[in-house]
Amino acid sequence: MTRIPHETSGEPNPLQALTLDRLRRRTSMKWRTYPEDVLPVWVAEMDVPLAEPVVRAVTDALHLGDTGYPAGTAYAEALSAFAGKRWNWDGLAVERTAIVPDVMLGVVEMLKLVTGYGDAVVVNPPVYPPFYDFVTHMDRRVVEAPLGEDGRIDPEVLEETFRRAVAGGKRVAYLLCSPHNPTGTVHTAEELSAVAGLAERYGVRVVADEIHAPLAIGADFVPYLSVPGAERGLSLMSASKAWNLAGLKAALAIAGPGAAADLARMPEEVGHGPSHVGVIAHTAALRDGGTWLDALLSGLDHNRHLLADLLAEHLPAVRYRPGDATYLAWLDCRALGLGDDPADAFLHRGRVALNSGIPFGTGGEGHARLNLAASPEVLTEAVRRMAAALG
Ligand SMILES: Cc1ncc(COP(=O)(O)O)c(C=O)c1O
Repeated sequence: MTRIPHETSGEPNPLQALTLDRLRRRTSMKWRTYPEDVLPVWVAEMDVPLAEPVVRAVTDALHLGDTGYPAGTAYAEALSAFAGKRWNWDGLAVERTAIVPDVMLGVVEMLKLVTGYGDAVVVNPPVYPPFYDFVTHMDRRVVEAPLGEDGRIDPEVLEETFRRAVAGGKRVAYLLCSPHNPTGTVHTAEELSAVAGLAERYGVRVVADEIHAPLAIGADFVPYLSVPGAERGLSLMSASKAWNLAGLKAALAIAGPGAAADLARMPEEVGHGPSHVGVIAHTAALRDGGTWLDALLSGLDHNRHLLADLLAEHLPAVRYRPGDATYLAWLDCRALGLGDDPADAFLHRGRVALNSGIPFGTGGEGHARLNLAASPEVLTEAVRRMAAALG
């Protein structure tokens, strides 16, 4: 489904608010990993100022010295209200939530609840590389069920993978990325219902990473826990991607009705990990950051089309299917003749940093991931540098 671009209510496009000189003063990973002559369009940080309600809430907390330990359910209440308004989902029950330090540590905690040492965790490559790193670090096995050529979950491949994974009688989890990083695929209600049906049939527990949920642009996001059959699922959500709050650590774990007892087993000390100021920031974003988010989505919508135009003009051999969510662009560069790791050539010959596709697992070779959350000028320069890498 294609939707009309979001209303901006006069809010300026946050992707056009900051100069490159100002961004280069940042000390985060995006800006400090490579030398100054490299243009960074890689790791998932956005080139935006923070939404005013977030700045106000954090500044107020700092002035008040409100920097202790987190308490209460304000984050869950704000997310529940946001889910009702944005996704028409009234099923996010605050009593079935828990704060966790961030989404990936939340994923680890959920997997600990439903799997044991050596058990299999199914993922859909190409997929966010930490899905491999965190899962293997916690002594589980990653089992791949690749996406189809169309970038969508292939139910037959998923079923066959579930069937093989449960064969030894071991516990199996499925780490669903929804919306999907790096393709930007927004899974439909039908697809998610099929996933829930398969998971129930094979006794597989679903852990859904829904961090990109507020960043749906061209299609409606469907919460996994809202589909029939997903009652035993667990989800992780956060304001961190959509409002650029990765440095203000917090996220929420959410249990379906049939997983409430599992979530209740999570040790209390996990809830001591998120930052209280992070929780304040995320809560303010969800509660009062809607206008800013709409302006961002509108800017991202423009950028994904701009990128398609720029590639068609300067790098027509690159295949790019604009995703319907996230600010990430998955570029099939196999026809460029740059080998398995085109990002390496873009970096060393073009002085532009994209993510290599290789760590995204099967199907990542010959691909690169580009971060669209930049100004149109930066995007234009990035594509110019990529094209220069070929010359
Ligand atoms: C799918 C996905 N999950 C998790 C994360 C990281 O989230 P957090 O910093 O809350 O662990 C990212 C960051 O880009 C992501 O894309």
